[in-house]
Amino acid sequence: MRVAIDFGLTNLDIVVEGEDNRLQRCTVPAAGAVDVAQLERAIRATGFLPTDFEQIVVTGGQHRRLPQRYGPTPVAGVNEVTAIGRGGLHLAGLPEALVVSAGSGTAMVAARDGDIHHATGSAVGGGTLQGLGKLLLGTADAGEIDELAAAGNSNAVDLTLLEATGGVLGHLPADANAVNFGRIPRMSNSDPGWMPGRADIAAGLVVMVGQVIAVIAVNAARAEGLEQIVVVGHLVDLPTVRRVLETVAGYYDAHIVVPEMPGYATAMGALMSVHS
Ligand SMILES: Nc1ncnc2c1ncn2[C@@H]1O[C@H](COP(=O)(O)OP(=O)(O)OP(=O)(O)O)[C@@H](O)[C@H]1O
Ligand SMILES: [Mg+2]
Repeated sequence: MRVAIDFGLTNLDIVVEGEDNRLQRCTVPAAGAVDVAQLERAIRATGFLPTDFEQIVVTGGQHRRLPQRYGPTPVAGVNEVTAIGRGGLHLAGLPEALVVSAGSGTAMVAARDGDIHHATGSAVGGGTLQGLGKLLLGTADAGEIDELAAAGNSNAVDLTLLEATGGVLGHLPADANAVNFGRIPRMSNSDPGWMPGRADIAAGLVVMVGQVIAVIAVNAARAEGLEQIVVVGHLVDLPTVRRVLETVAGYYDAHIVVPEMPGYATAMGALMSVHS
């Protein structure tokens, strides 16, 4: 049996490959720096004993801090960019794509057979949604922000193209936004009702984070000569974020695919990158 652990900034994603190649998955929240105690915590979350595994595969930001053995078991490190690329292609069933890891931050990887490289990225990601959620909504809970956003209207905080330019621009419809949160500076604080509601603020936040990721991805895919964009990571567990990605893809006639279980792509890719 083998186990792969993706040590993300927010979550540890774990995939266990059983004797019959059956896969089991679980996630635990990250808890500080990556060390042997975190490795033990991840292994415990699988319900198996460390000695049940003949190999431990690790990836994610700080996996290099781990030793190369854990007791008698070898620990194999996989470059996170490689793991993102392989895992994204595998989950989407595609031969090549720009694979976007929408995690705490956002990494974009050009992935083709034999060539997987970091293309670009953004410091805007799921951690930004949580951080601004905490400041503006009093919650950093991604699920709660998603639920609020689903009930809100981002155009209550954004300025639309119609308002900004009086019409359409390129392929963009008049109700597309022109300025994220652009309506707020125009509001008069002397009006006691000026402050938008939490749901509308949450909707504006999701749109801003989703648009930054989608627009960079569309341009990066074109620059890399890749037709398909695959988005993985737990940020796209959130339905409101997926909806924004689809909307932006529609504006630019781009193909954005979100595979099933997108949060496990990097751990899967790591597992696939090392042979037992
Ligand atoms: N149940 C959840 N718990 C935590 N975050 C969630 C959850 N559902 C969705 N998210 C979103 O997913 C983001 C984290 O995604 P993911 O776990 O893929 O990142 P990571 O691998 O920990 O980070 P990175 O790859 O940037 O180091 C959070 O910032 C949050 O916006
Ligand atoms: Mg990650």
